[in-house]
Amino acid sequence: MRILITGAAGFIGANLVERLLTTETAVEVVGLDSVNDYYDVSLKEFRLNRLSTIAAAHPENRWTFIKGNLADKVLIEQLFADYAFDVVVNLAAQAGVRYSITNPDAYIESNILGFYNILEACRHSYDGGKQGVQHLVFASSSSVYGSNKKVPYSTEDKVDNPVSLYAATKKSNELMAHAYSKLYNIPSTGLRFFTVYGPAGRPDMAYFGFTNKLVKGEKIQIFNYGNCKRDFTYVDDIVEGVQRIIHKAPERRMGEDGLPEPAYAVYNIGNSNPESLLDFVDILQQELIRAGVLPADYYFEAHKELVPMQPGDVPTTFADTSALERDFGFKPHTSLRDGLCKFAEWYKEFYQP
Ligand SMILES: NC(=O)c1ccc[n+]([C@@H]2O[C@H](COP(=O)([O-])OP(=O)(O)OC[C@H]3O[C@@H](n4cnc5c(N)ncnc54)[C@H](O)[C@@H]3O)[C@@H](O)[C@H]2O)c1
Repeated sequence: MRILITGAAGFIGANLVERLLTTETAVEVVGLDSVNDYYDVSLKEFRLNRLSTIAAAHPENRWTFIKGNLADKVLIEQLFADYAFDVVVNLAAQAGVRYSITNPDAYIESNILGFYNILEACRHSYDGGKQGVQHLVFASSSSVYGSNKKVPYSTEDKVDNPVSLYAATKKSNELMAHAYSKLYNIPSTGLRFFTVYGPAGRPDMAYFGFTNKLVKGEKIQIFNYGNCKRDFTYVDDIVEGVQRIIHKAPERRMGEDGLPEPAYAVYNIGNSNPESLLDFVDILQQELIRAGVLPADYYFEAHKELVPMQPGDVPTTFADTSALERDFGFKPHTSLRDGLCKFAEWYKEFYQP
């Protein structure tokens, strides 16, 4: 199996590559990433170095990394021509809700133009009767649910009211993939990830940013006065889910009109167990103390500030994962304490060896 993973230097991408290299046999994994500086590039380099070490220990599989931009159509076409991928997992994107307010251009370039290039390349992978791409898996986001009131969020719910440009680009990806799936019979699966966290994660996310601030003795700001709930999902659960999904593409079927029915599906991947932001920061500080990142007598209460809601944010995320369980016999299961414990231990080793 030849598989392209875009965003391979990113948090979820690198964890997925690691999982494939260590648990599959006879796979050729090609990673593409622009290694942009949206956050500290040394984290991306750390992940890529780790992948080189892992690949060296698994000669039964192949790993190739290519630095490049999804928005570069010529590069993407060349990559598909060179490797004839069986599976494509598109994780590269400009992530983050708040940054889409300050730098909207990055979202249009990576999430709209970049994703369109992937779809076009998948479409042309069948040219000349070639087998082509057998499954396109792509990252969507729980943010497509906007401020929907009904919980848990189900993939059956209407998601036409995004509250950030980021969410709008992710919903657009689902629509574009559906159209391409119908037009060109590309088996495609969109995955709505719910607040993914873990070691070597993204510093722009709350658990990581809070840790950086607490270490510096600064105050952390807890939005919506702490009345927020998030379905925190540990990265190992996410990549196990993605791996299972990679192997089971939606079936191609012909409709009564003689044209293909879209071989298309969307799933939530989330813990399905939302935690209040206040409980989350409490567990985080306990685990940071236990790992030795913060001193045992750290006076946490003096370092937290309750502030109003931010534009683009939503009060609750809560995944209905029944479709994932039904079709893949899988549901994320790592507890927040176990996951934050692993994050805190990694943080200690990386920043305070
Ligand atoms: N982490 C989460 O909580 C979460 C939640 C929902 C959805 N997602 C989605 O999952 C995917 C992976 O997220 P992540 O947390 O690993 O983010 P990440 O920022 O760590 O990884 C994304 C990677 O894509 C790369 N990239 C961005 N634009 C690119 C471009 N135009 N060309 C090539 N590479 C480019 C970046 O350099 C980065 O390394 C993204 O699509 C994100 O929107 C993540």
